[in-house]
Amino acid sequence: MPVKLLVVGSGGREHALVWALARSPQATQLYVAPGNAGTARLATNVPIKADDVAGLVTFARQQDIDLVVVGPEIPLALGLVDALQREGIRAFGPTAAAAQLEASKAFSKAFMRQHRIPTGAYGSFSDYASALAYLDAHPAPIVLKADGLAAGKGVLVCQTDREAREGLQAILRDRRFGTAGERVVIEEYLTGQEVSVLAFSDGKSLAPMVLAQDHKAAYDGDRGPNTGGMGSYAPAPLLDPVMLHRVSTEVLEPVIAGMAQAGTPYVGVLYAGLMVNGDDLRVLEFNCRFGDPETQVILPLLKTDLLSIVEACVSGGLDQLGLEWSPRSAACVVLAADGYPGDYARGLTIEGLENVAEEDVLVFHAGTRQDGSRVITDGGRVLGVTGLGDTLQGALDRAYAAAGAIRWPGVFYRHDIGAKGLARGDA
Ligand code: AMP
Ligand code: GLY
Repeated sequence: MPVKLLVVGSGGREHALVWALARSPQATQLYVAPGNAGTARLATNVPIKADDVAGLVTFARQQDIDLVVVGPEIPLALGLVDALQREGIRAFGPTAAAAQLEASKAFSKAFMRQHRIPTGAYGSFSDYASALAYLDAHPAPIVLKADGLAAGKGVLVCQTDREAREGLQAILRDRRFGTAGERVVIEEYLTGQEVSVLAFSDGKSLAPMVLAQDHKAAYDGDRGPNTGGMGSYAPAPLLDPVMLHRVSTEVLEPVIAGMAQAGTPYVGVLYAGLMVNGDDLRVLEFNCRFGDPETQVILPLLKTDLLSIVEACVSGGLDQLGLEWSPRSAACVVLAADGYPGDYARGLTIEGLENVAEEDVLVFHAGTRQDGSRVITDGGRVLGVTGLGDTLQGALDRAYAAAGAIRWPGVFYRHDIGAKGLARGDA
């Protein structure tokens, strides 16, 4: 059956989603709101912001959209899926109630406690004096988390008691993260290896994706400020089959069962951020969407038609659909604007894009805009260059060769994407 699709969002994740959906023979028309210069080549960009719930619903109704695929967390937390469902429009992504798993750290921790999902010990406070008393009883290192969505910035890992007190002041009293900091979660500091596991869900059953590893720090060697993610690779050799099985039975399945039991079934992508230390497995956070830049390496390895998976998630029957993955590797290098994740310029002309037309290289646009015949920078993370190869080394070589051919003033990227995967002998 022909399907008219709308993808919501404008980053590299959404370009990868559009790229994968456009390959489906059933996708007859594809719109993106608001999209970027890359999505414009595969779909029709419409100038509606990703957080404009009313605008998106009106557009979907007027255009008779059959299915909406939501990329970022903000529209999910704002209830875009609920609003579309009220209009009888099918949407891929959790409802606002289910998206609380990401949108409220306090909800997420309470949910984990209730369902005995392994996570760090914690307290949750809106009252400053009680939070301070908890800090007195739990010395540093300790982690403070603003309850609400704070664009990935609301987590403070405090190595000293002084930092923890200052952090508490910043979150609860100075409202550094605005209303996201009306409540604070204070959490046990955990050590080990961080791993993200993503799975599709239809509300009842799960289909895990290949493991991908992100690189959060801005500079080589995991130095510098935290970013949205500077690169990724997949499959990541981070969990053995025993651990993978435990992630399913101890984390993912209890989430889906708990959400269904609460009357708020979880449909869409469940992203579990985990800390693994030997046998010890704990959840750091849940995200209610695909990761960025994890999507840019996961989808190129997916052999099953993405639209069929999305349809199965929304309509049920995911367990009938075996997912097939390529045995190859993928690596994505994020090209960022000078100054990112701090302030950066926009509007710089990107050169060399036409040089990258090889097989096994995909250039996913993130912060870009078409300006006449030029493609210009329009964000901090500008492009994600994905290479594919029979080995991780091969994928990295292709990604880096292509990244080196693209230029604008001040462009920078990490040179050690995938190094941890290579060190584990996956090359
Ligand atoms: P989150 O958004 O909760 O994943 O936190 C962002 C980052 O903070 C994570 O990727 C970890 O590097 C770090 N982090 C979060 N919680 C903890 C914790 N309990 N112990 C140590 N590091 C943490
Ligand atoms: N790359 C991390 C995230 O999407 O949250």
